[in-house]
Amino acid sequence: MSKATRGFTYVYQPLCKFYICQAYHCPGINSGEADEDDLDAKFSLLDIPTEDLKQLILKINKLYDEHIKIPTEILSHSCLEEELCNNSYGIPAIRHRKQQASLIGHLEKMGLIKEAMTFVELGAGKGMLSHWIQKASEENDNCNYILVDRGTCRYKADNFHKWDDKGPKFERIRIDIEHLHLGIHFINSGCARLQKL
Ligand SMILES: C[S@@+](CC[C@H](N)C(=O)[O-])C[C@H]1O[C@@H](n2cnc3c(N)ncnc32)[C@H](O)[C@@H]1O
Repeated sequence: MSKATRGFTYVYQPLCKFYICQAYHCPGINSGEADEDDLDAKFSLLDIPTEDLKQLILKINKLYDEHIKIPTEILSHSCLEEELCNNSYGIPAIRHRKQQASLIGHLEKMGLIKEAMTFVELGAGKGMLSHWIQKASEENDNCNYILVDRGTCRYKADNFHKWDDKGPKFERIRIDIEHLHLGIHFINSGCARLQKL
């Protein structure tokens, strides 16, 4: 049995049996390749000699400095201009919007604000990042936005994300990223395909 087929969920209705195939659900697919014994092995940091820990930290810092130098480049985007000038927002709200504006600035710089794109927001919460990306891509009405989150929130913003057949498409997937199989085509799958047996 393939990993993907293990992700199926069975739901019994009073009069007939339904089989919900969540094609994107694959248990543990993003948990790494550790074998079962490794996963079971639990130990406390207190069990590791301090000197070993220090060496490990030095090693990680050295590798980081040598290989992962990410220069800070804060960008912005006009789609959030009005929001950023709104004096009624407090410091955290403005900081959040600045982060989103910078992310969208980077997407634009990388040439990713264009038509026929599918954006997957991992840990989407209210989905406001996707919301602003869509505003930045307003002329591209054939983009898809997939909002992934394991939790629930107030979906007030979702009311802005409804178009007729011909507009951008927003879909929500409620799942832990740990089990999210991205190697499938989910848009218009209805997310959970419902098949009567
Ligand atoms: C800071 S909030 C949302 C941020 C949002 N992307 C934004 O820009 O406003 C982080 C979200 O990540 C979700 N989250 C955290 N870990 C997750 C996981 N393993 N799988 C799915 N969602 C996760 C939480 O439920 C939460 O809604």
